[in-house]
Amino acid sequence: MSAIAREVVLGVGAGIAAYKSCDLLRRLQDRGYAVTVVPTPSSLNFVGAATWQALSGRPVATHVWENSHEVSHISLAQRAHFFLIAPATADLIARMSAGRADDLLTNLILAANVPIMIVPAMHPQMWNDAATVANVATLRSRGYVVMEPEIGRLTGSDSGQGRFPQVSSIIERFDQLTGNLRDLQGKRILISGGGTRESIDPVRFIGNRSSGKQATALATAAVLRGAEVTLVAANMDTSSLDTLAVHHVESAAQMHLALAKEFESCDVLIMCAAVADAKPSQSTIEKIKKAIFTTIELEPNPDILAELSRKKSQQIMIGFAAETSNLITSAQAKLKSKGLDVIYVNDVSDGAIFGKDTTSGTIITRNGEEIALKEVSKDALAHLLLDHALRQLG
Ligand code: CTP
Repeated sequence: MSAIAREVVLGVGAGIAAYKSCDLLRRLQDRGYAVTVVPTPSSLNFVGAATWQALSGRPVATHVWENSHEVSHISLAQRAHFFLIAPATADLIARMSAGRADDLLTNLILAANVPIMIVPAMHPQMWNDAATVANVATLRSRGYVVMEPEIGRLTGSDSGQGRFPQVSSIIERFDQLTGNLRDLQGKRILISGGGTRESIDPVRFIGNRSSGKQATALATAAVLRGAEVTLVAANMDTSSLDTLAVHHVESAAQMHLALAKEFESCDVLIMCAAVADAKPSQSTIEKIKKAIFTTIELEPNPDILAELSRKKSQQIMIGFAAETSNLITSAQAKLKSKGLDVIYVNDVSDGAIFGKDTTSGTIITRNGEEIALKEVSKDALAHLLLDHALRQLG
């Protein structure tokens, strides 16, 4: 799957299996898809809009008349890369096959030109009815992927073919359609993030404005793609990263130590942290009184990335550069001097980027490729850098 092609419309029809799509939504999100739920109006009898809004974290509409100033049936259709209709009832299948557009979901399906996968669930007699059989054949002839319902007991006492498939089977089939393979499975990725703090005294430190958001995006993306991830986190919020190994550090020296321990066994190092270039020559145990707090003598910190690069064997090295002028030439020089495969240069003039969810800058590779990015999400940059790492790993 292309790194950014992961916007999904999850269409929900009016079947009892709608409640199972709550779990399906979660599993899709776990796998890196960004999901907008579009229920049919009658499906809200099974699962209400509030539930979909809370689970997806996005607004939910059922009719074209809601938010009509946004022309949502066109804007959503243009934004989506894939549609997954689950559960699809006999009625919804009939409407899709006839090309009806009587609610937001069917409008979207008509307006979109992207792969559509349908997961039917209904009573076996409805599934086997000649009308449904013909409608499914029509949809398949138009290129829709229609999963076979499972055979087994239904909600009542009846049994037969019509059950909503296991969520894991739906995900497996959907991943095949979208190409979302766990392409970093078995790879060990070491990431540093946040900003180091160099102690002056028990109260004060030298720090920087790094929020750690880019490192969080990188770690999340790498986990989603199956990598084994270790994060060395300096003074950043890691509360959303409970599934991976996190080493918390404060200073550059601590970060150096933690990274050096993990470096040998990693396949990729992504040095995203903002490391203080210098530290106070002396950190006092007692708070320095303001009357004598006039100058701080500094000594340089080691360049962690350059040092690890000198020890590298097969590791892919990815660095970041924070610049305010001569972005490309400065980044090219850093790529060379630090022995990197890829560098991403941020324009940080006026504190731009720090703490934001988006970034603008340029990816520069060892082979001289330059990819300029404008206001892309930090998640998107994370996936692009991982794509580069994967390519270099062969
Ligand atoms: N870096 C590092 N150790 C340092 C300083 C920086 O490992 N002591 C890493 C950063 O994590 C980043 C890359 O080197 O991946 C470039 O960092 P940057 O701050 O842009 O450059 P510096 O090498 O510090 O050079 P300058 O401050 O002169 O621009």
